[in-house]
Formats: sequence, C-alpha cells, structure tokens
Amino acid sequence: MTVSDALGDRRSCRSFTPESLDAGLLDDLVDAARRTPTAGNCQGVEFLALEGADAAAYWETTLSAERRAAFPWPGLLVAPAIVVPFGMPSRYLARYAETDKAATGLGDASEAWSVPYWLTDAAFAALALQLLVVELGLGCCFFGLFEHEDAVRRRFGVPDEARAVGAIAVGHPEPSGARSSRSTTRGRRPLDEVLHRGSW
Ligand SMILES: Cc1cc2nc3c(=O)[nH]c(=O)nc-3n(C[C@H](O)[C@H](O)[C@H](O)COP(=O)(O)O)c2cc1C
Repeated sequence: MTVSDALGDRRSCRSFTPESLDAGLLDDLVDAARRTPTAGNCQGVEFLALEGADAAAYWETTLSAERRAAFPWPGLLVAPAIVVPFGMPSRYLARYAETDKAATGLGDASEAWSVPYWLTDAAFAALALQLLVVELGLGCCFFGLFEHEDAVRRRFGVPDEARAVGAIAVGHPEPSGARSSRSTTRGRRPLDEVLHRGSW
C-alpha cells in the first residue's frame, strides 16, 4: 500500500469488533509513528497506550454509565485499544534553551510559542499512527478528550504538564457501522476552494 492509498482509504471507524490486537502490535505502531518530524528533534511526544481493561477504563473515566448506555456509537466503546499522544512542553523549552536555539527566546516560557510545537508534533504522530493502522487493514478513529483531559491524566498517572491532542481508538472494524457520523456526510470541499495559488 502506498501513502496515497492509505490517505485515500482512511476513514474514521466508529464501530469495532471486540477482538484484541495482536500482542506487541500497539508497541510497533507507536514505535513507527514516533518517527515523524519533531521541532528541534525534541522527540517530545509521549504516548499513553491502553488495551483491554485499560481501554474500557478510558470510557469509564470520560463517560458516566448513563452516557455510555446512550452513546450514539456503542461500537466505538468496544475498541480493544486507545492511544493518546501527549506533547511534553518542558522538553521543548529545554531544547530551545540550548545554545543553537537560544536566540529564538522560546526556551523561556511556553507562552512565548506562537505555535505550541509539542501539539504540532503530537498531531503529526497521531496522523502517522492512523495511516499505519490503515496499512494493516485495521480501523481507527481520532476523537477529542474535551473536558476530560484532567480526569484522564489523574486516572492513568499522566504528568500534569502533558498536553493531549486527542485520542485514537484502534481495532478491527465492524463493517456495518464503520463510517456513520453526521460529520462524515459533509463531503469534501473542492480543491479550488482550499488551494490558493500564488495569492489568496
Ligand atoms: C481534531 C479532530 C477531532 C475529532 N473529534 C472527533 C470526536 O470527538 N468524535 C468523533 O466521532 N470524531 C472526531 N473526529 C473525526 C472527524 O469527525 C472526521 O475525521 C471527519 O468527519 C472526516 O471523516 P473521515 O475521518 O471519515 O474522513 C475528529 C477529527 C479531528 C481531526
């Protein structure tokens, strides 16, 4: 499968079978996904990997029993694995305080960053992981943590400074409901609407 194929085939999967991932697969996926570029080669993205009971604990942490029972995509809640990539700001501040980067002034405080590269890098890794999942013929869905980031941090012992860009459910797609979402039916904007050649 080419990168173009993977980009073309990827769709958010919101319905999984409960089948577990092969042992070690999640480690391999993260290991490959973390090869994306990182600012200053900080490598400041770390991953919370949840499988089986830990993945179930994610949903228990973020949705009450009542909300789980009424959840519009119940097949998402049975995904056997969830990966949460976190950007670690302190790694970026420390790196940008080093001599070759000090002139940027970005080593002083996270507020100095017009673009928080720890989130950029975490998002790159999140996309790479999704494409790798597609390459394997598995399914995934990237979704937000919304107001639950602190609860997830507390439940899984994530350091306070870690910032999540979102979470990725991974598993074997259950064909009947794999693509259903109101967002999905919006269609793709025409290229001429989003590509500004030479000027906007
Ligand atoms: C930043 C971001 C946040 C998203 N949050 C959610 C979410 O909370 N729940 C969900 O079901 N899908 C979520 N999605 C998936 C989008 O709805 C989906 O990518 C979009 O509708 C396009 O459909 P496709 O992924 O099948 O191409 C999110 C995607 C991104 C990039």
